[in-house]
Amino acid sequence: HNHIDFATPDKVRAAIAAGDTHAHIPDYEGIAAYRDGGGYKVLQALRAKGDWEAVQDAVLASGLRGLGGAGFPSGKKWGFVRANPGPRYLAVNGDEGEPGTFKDRFYLERQPHLFLEGMLIAAWAVEAERCYIYMRDEYPAVLEILRCEIKALEDASLVDKGYVELRRGAGAYICGEESAMIESIEGKRGLPRHRPPYVAQVGLFGRPTLVHNIETLHWVAKICREGPEILSGIEKNGRKGLRSYSVSGRVAKPGVYLLPAGSTITDIIEAAGGMAEGHVFKAYQPGGPSSGLLPASMNDVPLDFDTLQPHGSFIGSAAVVVLSDRDRARDAALNMLRFFEDESCGQCTPCRVGCEKAVKLMQAERWDQPLLEELCQAMADASICGLGQAAPNPIRLTIRHFADEV
Ligand code: NAI
Ligand code: SF4
Repeated sequence: HNHIDFATPDKVRAAIAAGDTHAHIPDYEGIAAYRDGGGYKVLQALRAKGDWEAVQDAVLASGLRGLGGAGFPSGKKWGFVRANPGPRYLAVNGDEGEPGTFKDRFYLERQPHLFLEGMLIAAWAVEAERCYIYMRDEYPAVLEILRCEIKALEDASLVDKGYVELRRGAGAYICGEESAMIESIEGKRGLPRHRPPYVAQVGLFGRPTLVHNIETLHWVAKICREGPEILSGIEKNGRKGLRSYSVSGRVAKPGVYLLPAGSTITDIIEAAGGMAEGHVFKAYQPGGPSSGLLPASMNDVPLDFDTLQPHGSFIGSAAVVVLSDRDRARDAALNMLRFFEDESCGQCTPCRVGCEKAVKLMQAERWDQPLLEELCQAMADASICGLGQAAPNPIRLTIRHFADEV
């Protein structure tokens, strides 16, 4: 992972001076500009005499769903958390470890205060005692921006000193799983917990905890400032809302593209400037490695929550990776399983041993398909968390759509 310790602002500055482009701090909207544009007025009005259920209604009406990738209706979570007595906490998942996902970074490097105001609105709605932001350490510029802007919020008396705590991840993919993240914040090894209980009931330090992804909170602020129609008013191919697609691979202009939620892979490639020169579209990963690979012929499916389930896949965090005629699907699938093998926390056998065994089987010239399918079934049925449960998807989808390669 080339893990670099960016623990202090001095180290970030040193990394920038040494030419590390990841550490470069872009021009972003600071607190003064955000407030000039009306920022934090909604938060202050809500704190003065707001009705949390009215805000929840607006969030539900917008159709906002969890943008970490699970798509759980965001407003509903507030009710689940509030149903349990305090003290309650809010934990923000900024681990963004899904390969190909970089939308949270994109928004934080441009408009960090939309996220921060959304976080404080959600914290107000569930009466959270404290907010913890669990931030990916491989984003040194984002960490520095958040350090500065949280201090600016304290200086402006918009939050009490210490109310928002910034925690650094340490490069483990599994710490993006919400209960493993909570274990990590508590100072323990990041092992996913069994569900139930859900974190809404028993979360951080054993207390009811609201967990949201960064981008979800960005939209909470936008909905509160501009109304639910900014999402519910957009319709395409029978789907409502917007998706921030992180697009990479064989396209001319990789990047984050905010498009209607009903967009197809054809629309997404077009937004990303078409295919890279000399490449012919062959396949795509719609939402992270656990969503597997789909063939170019599936170019008319809206890439949204729920639309890919019938095809054995899902949109997840909308990490779209485009493959071309120069790539082999079997190599990409093997790469995905190698990633899961590396990142499995090792807590349960079906995932720990299953990923390792799958990698070995997938290295053979011809895949032993019945044996792989048996393994996939055991992993999907018996793994504790989403990592092991979804790891079979790339295997199954490659067998289904790219049989000639395996
Ligand atoms: P999930 O559907 O099990 O849960 C989603 C959320 O809803 C959680 O916060 C959970 O606590 C809550 N929830 C669900 N049912 C509930 C109930 N009955 N009562 C109270 N709360 C309830 O999904 P999960 O496992 O949290 O997330 C999986 C997704 O994460 C995948 O779709 C994958 O795409 C995505 N992912 C994203 C990554 C990223 O970097 N953004 C990295 C890895 C995975
Ligand atoms: Fe750990 Fe994998 Fe089991 Fe999840 S499925 S708890 S990552 S071993």
